Amino acid sequence: MATGHRTLAVLRAMPHRMRRPSNGSVHVWQIPIPGQAADIEALEKILTVMERRRAEVLLVPHAKAEFVATRASLRWILASYLEVRPAEIDLRLGAHGKPRLGNESRLCFNVSHAREMSLCAVAWDCQVGIDIEAHLPGAPLDRLADRVCAPLERQQLQATTGLDRVATFYRCWSKKEAIFKAVGGGLSLPALPLMDVLSRPGSLIMRGEMQALTRGTWHIHDIEIDSRHSAAVAFRSDEAGKKVWIT
Ligand SMILES: CC(C)(COP(=O)(O)OP(=O)(O)OC[C@H]1O[C@@H](n2cnc3c(N)ncnc32)[C@H](O)[C@@H]1OP(=O)(O)O)[C@@H](O)C(=O)NCCC(=O)NCCS
Repeated sequence: MATGHRTLAVLRAMPHRMRRPSNGSVHVWQIPIPGQAADIEALEKILTVMERRRAEVLLVPHAKAEFVATRASLRWILASYLEVRPAEIDLRLGAHGKPRLGNESRLCFNVSHAREMSLCAVAWDCQVGIDIEAHLPGAPLDRLADRVCAPLERQQLQATTGLDRVATFYRCWSKKEAIFKAVGGGLSLPALPLMDVLSRPGSLIMRGEMQALTRGTWHIHDIEIDSRHSAAVAFRSDEAGKKVWIT
């Protein structure tokens, strides 16, 4: 089981100064979420007063652990790029609640959390979104697929069985959610079947209203975690540099 001390150890092992990602690249950080209350308390010290208040009202222990560990890691990670202290990171809420940096910073980021880990994507001057999904045993995949998947994606799902089907569904979900989070809002749930991330590997197909909202060149990558999770990062950039993974 990951501990807060391990989370802190991961953060402390980071380089103190990170060079910003080059255009067309994204840095992805994977941070463990602690299981012990004492470890969460250690991470809470990195948060601002307002963030600690937000954590206080999260009564479900794993929800609190996810928020505290993710926000503390986010502050720590951004601080190493901006060469300031974690407490000095000026986090604001953008449209639809997507967190962003103040002072018109061009450093862009997004986070996602599951029970055991959080992911943080950092990019330069482009829209970026990241998503991790834990595979839920017994989830009504067919019903969910009817709401989320494009017709060709559903066909592809129906050609799979068992664990392969579960993994295919969540791969599709996490990619769409990563795009959704990169855009930061304005995409509606009923429009999700207008987006096809599965049926033609390596390409993204948008139809109808999705075309206007997601114009531009998208880079969408699966992030390999383990057999119980699917994750993806998406960013919009006309420059295709190389992606960089840091865990
Ligand atoms: C806001 C939303 C994108 C968060 O996604 P989630 O899977 O619940 O949670 P994740 O762990 O992936 O991400 C949470 C983080 O995303 C960030 N976030 C919040 N609002 C966001 C937005 N509008 N856009 C991008 N990121 C956002 C925050 O940093 C948040 O973490 P925090 O609350 O600890 O600060 C999601 O609740 C939502 O509205 N989804 C609608 C899209 C949909 O229905 N998709 C279905 C599958 S394709």
